Amino acid sequence: MSTPAAAELTHESARLHVTGEALYIDDIPAPPGLLVGRVIYSPHARARIRSIELEGARALPGVAAVICHSDVPGENQMGPVVRDERCLAEGEVECVGQAVVLVAARDEETARRAAAQVRIDYEPLEPVLDIPAAMARNQLLGPPRTMRRGDPDAALTAAPHLIRGELSSGAQEHWYLETQACLCIPGESGEITAYSSTQHPSETQAIIAGVLGIPSNAVVVEVRRLGGGFGGKETQANHVAAWTALLCRAAARPVKIRLSRDDDMIITGKRHPYLTRYEAGFGDDGILRALRVELNADGGIATDLSFAILERAMLHADNAYFVPHMSVVARVWKTNLPSNTAMRGFGAPQAMAAVETVIDRIARELNIDAAEIRRRNLYGGEKRNVTHYGQEVEGNRLGLLFERILASSAYTARREQVNAFNAAHEFTKRGLAVTPVKFGIAFTTTFLNKAGALVHIYADGSVLVNHGGVEMGQGLHTKIRRLAARELCIPVEAVNVSATNTAKVPNTSATAASSGTDLNAMAVLDAVRTLKARIKDVVPNAFAGSGSSIEHSPSTTVNRTSHSKLAEWASRALSKQVNLSAIGFYRVPEIGWDREKGWGRPFNYYAFGVAVSEAEVDLLTGAHTLIRADILYDAGESINPAIDTGQVEGGFVQGLGWCTTEEIIHDARGNLLTHSPDTYKIPAVRDIPRDFRVALLEGFPNPAAVAGSKAVAEPPFMLALSAWLAIKDAVSAVDGHVREPAFRIPATNEVIALAAHALMTAAGSGRTGPGAPGANGPPAASASRETRR
Ligand code: MTE
Ligand code: HPA
Ligand code: MOS
Repeated sequence: MSTPAAAELTHESARLHVTGEALYIDDIPAPPGLLVGRVIYSPHARARIRSIELEGARALPGVAAVICHSDVPGENQMGPVVRDERCLAEGEVECVGQAVVLVAARDEETARRAAAQVRIDYEPLEPVLDIPAAMARNQLLGPPRTMRRGDPDAALTAAPHLIRGELSSGAQEHWYLETQACLCIPGESGEITAYSSTQHPSETQAIIAGVLGIPSNAVVVEVRRLGGGFGGKETQANHVAAWTALLCRAAARPVKIRLSRDDDMIITGKRHPYLTRYEAGFGDDGILRALRVELNADGGIATDLSFAILERAMLHADNAYFVPHMSVVARVWKTNLPSNTAMRGFGAPQAMAAVETVIDRIARELNIDAAEIRRRNLYGGEKRNVTHYGQEVEGNRLGLLFERILASSAYTARREQVNAFNAAHEFTKRGLAVTPVKFGIAFTTTFLNKAGALVHIYADGSVLVNHGGVEMGQGLHTKIRRLAARELCIPVEAVNVSATNTAKVPNTSATAASSGTDLNAMAVLDAVRTLKARIKDVVPNAFAGSGSSIEHSPSTTVNRTSHSKLAEWASRALSKQVNLSAIGFYRVPEIGWDREKGWGRPFNYYAFGVAVSEAEVDLLTGAHTLIRADILYDAGESINPAIDTGQVEGGFVQGLGWCTTEEIIHDARGNLLTHSPDTYKIPAVRDIPRDFRVALLEGFPNPAAVAGSKAVAEPPFMLALSAWLAIKDAVSAVDGHVREPAFRIPATNEVIALAAHALMTAAGSGRTGPGAPGANGPPAASASRETRR
């Protein structure tokens, strides 16, 4: 694009964020008679409910409503895809945190006292709390899924080298700054308006309608912005919204529920823990001949998005590497934990961690630098550019990005320096790793790849854009405002992007799958072009010389018409009875695949990035520092380089948290022990790479998305695997990169220190045998190898 004005790049809410004027749910001025809602949830991971007694709570002064499952006027369901999630528990509870009773009272204190008066009699039962326990009982949430290309069994048998192993990765809390919240206001004749912190207003609307037993046309959901979502509000904002709506209906007054941080962490689901088993065959050159992957997800108590997530995991088990013979078998296990849900990366991080572990092990087996093994295995070349599900890696930039980052990060020279450092230090080691990311952009549920918009031009030349996407900090509205202003040749200040509202733009998809801009901006431009054409019908010289459609010529310099010009044209059009409101719609063309066969074109295009990380590790304590991280990311023709760079940085650091410090721990009864920031460690300023160099690839517009751009959002998350592997590389230096350190995700300080300890004590005893046993919990990682020669 042409050189932008500063206003075009500044986040539309930046000033409001820093002054505190931005309105989140809890900031909306209290309507008269507002009640505080409270959720009373199960303290047991599994129990039969013998009885529920609400009379004591109902009798308290100041209490407006106390309800349980039998008070739900509609269907007692809030499962978004599969109807297997009761809104309020009935007969049994299946996890700690499952909602049983709801209270609405005049204030927080009264609500608490009412909660204390609620009597629920439970008969505790034995819970299943992790994947191995669920496996032992064959407790699945649905049938297994498979994908296959070629003949992996034969190719594994024929391969000169074979490795097998297991990798476990943990849950991750979303840690949005704004906890789940909803404010419901009753209207006339049973209508209801919900201000919800949701990534999916249309689904929230449908779930509210369902539990209330009213049609969707009686429910309006509005979202100004979220204080973060990260996938945690794709389906699970529905829960708080449904509970708030039930209380609002029962009390016939406005009600707000805003979960406390602890309750939010206890009640809501997280990233799925995965237990992954792999078997890989490769040649003396380190090139993969075959790969068999078994993915096991901990779904929690209900289906939620587990199978969509599993599917994305299966579709990313290759990450950026061509594997001629490959099979993936994947299962979702049912446990007595809150239903796990979408989180940035949506299953891909878990699967990519396994194939990156494979590559890393090949390097150690063959004593060749892992960067070289990665380079040799990257997609590219005529016969090596089609994925295990049959989609060609079009516009493949992996090789280009890889060569550039190795050069710009001085990888080879730094490898020498790291080796020299390690030779000189016994208890402090450094490690270096480069990892690529290839991430498919589109909802894998193909019909969701669509969006709508509604644009108005007013007589004063100001423009109001409504679209189905939700602003959660990612800069969606800022990007769309810029594109709309450019298409109309007016300054961004003349364009206002409204709150997302189901009455204005209905039947939308979630803002998710990194495709918020791709989908919604296209719909907005569709509407804007309709309006331009209508204006040109009556003002033929309007927009003269500026009609170039930007997505096909992203670099054209647009002469901005002044805002007053648009006012003049708009007034003339209105005086001729022209309609200056238009809807827009967009559907992604030419995608689709056969789920059953696991074959086709699930993605619109691929996003690519690479990262080089260098870590320093104290072997005795496991404490570590990221000395430097270099990232090169392909954002196509970036609509907003500042926002995209911020997304890369934020995604990487969030990934770093998952890989290192963020550990979700439950006790033997299924209670979450890490339910507040003093026990759950998200990255802090000191965890950010000390030297952090993020660059966007320039000069490669993407033909498949709006204005030549590419999605950012999720893919950078997985670049943090470079930091995880840099730490592992440092640990591995203990015995000169011979044995496999016992690693898992997160590699907490304990995992690191124990892995280092195991290598130190075993040093000198030959290079066979598996890695050391895990630190705690499920097997950290287990590994075995065979060389057939
Ligand atoms: N960035 C911020 N600041 N806050 C968020 O909640 N969510 C991430 C990503 N970046 C998120 C974020 C996730 S999980 C997704 S899918 C995308 O933003 C959604 O927005 P987009 O598709 O418009 O990029
Ligand atoms: N990503 C995010 N959310 C989704 C997807 C996806 O691929 N499919 C269905 N919901
Ligand atoms: Mo993002 S996990 O698709 O909300």
